[in-house]
Amino acid sequence: MRLEGAAITWLGHATFVVDTPTNQRIVVDPWLKGNPRCPPAFHQLAQVDLILVSHGHFDHMGSAVELAAATGAPVVSNFEIATYLQGQGVANTIGMNKGGTVTFGDIKVTMVHADHSSGIIAEDGRVIYGGEAGGFVMTLENGLTLYHAGDTNVFSDMAVIRDLYAPDVALLPIGGHFTMSPKEASYAVRLLKPKIVVPMHYGTFDALTGNPEALRDLLVGEDTEVVTLEPGVRYE
Ligand code: NI
Ligand code: MN
Repeated sequence: MRLEGAAITWLGHATFVVDTPTNQRIVVDPWLKGNPRCPPAFHQLAQVDLILVSHGHFDHMGSAVELAAATGAPVVSNFEIATYLQGQGVANTIGMNKGGTVTFGDIKVTMVHADHSSGIIAEDGRVIYGGEAGGFVMTLENGLTLYHAGDTNVFSDMAVIRDLYAPDVALLPIGGHFTMSPKEASYAVRLLKPKIVVPMHYGTFDALTGNPEALRDLLVGEDTEVVTLEPGVRYE
């Protein structure tokens, strides 16, 4: 399957650039500088139209403040993180919550459930309440639907995400330890039934041992294609 005019670029870990068919650029879970797998050429991004943050952990919003300042793009996140980011100087935030949809032209972004935590660690080590972790369903101008699961374990209501949004592409964590591993992710694929699954959140740290080959082995005979991306390489 091809992305019908859209393109996705993985920048390592959970960071993705989504270029839509009318050249809107969405960045999900920006962690650029400091992300060991983000190619240096992508440490600065220009012409970003929308930033999505799934939860409050540094490896998902470590570059959100800087990227928002550099691009002026609004940051979409849960209400608590949006409020936190305002306090960090982000001018344009859109706080929402699960089940809600925000619209940008012909693009729709829906926040969905994730089974994970969302505390924000302050510089002094305090934990700031960051609301609940979520994921995002992006419906592009051409109808192509992408599901970025954020950090999560598998959960049975992924079947609801399938029924309501029928994602064509699922971006799923597989590294284990902080999220699901290939075993749970293969179960998630059977619930979601996407045309394509793109593994993420693996190989960044030693603890994240899950790998795409293991996921592929667990999905032999399924209709879903496992697409392994290299950081910085555009997939259309
Ligand atoms: Ni996390
Ligand atoms: Mn994470």
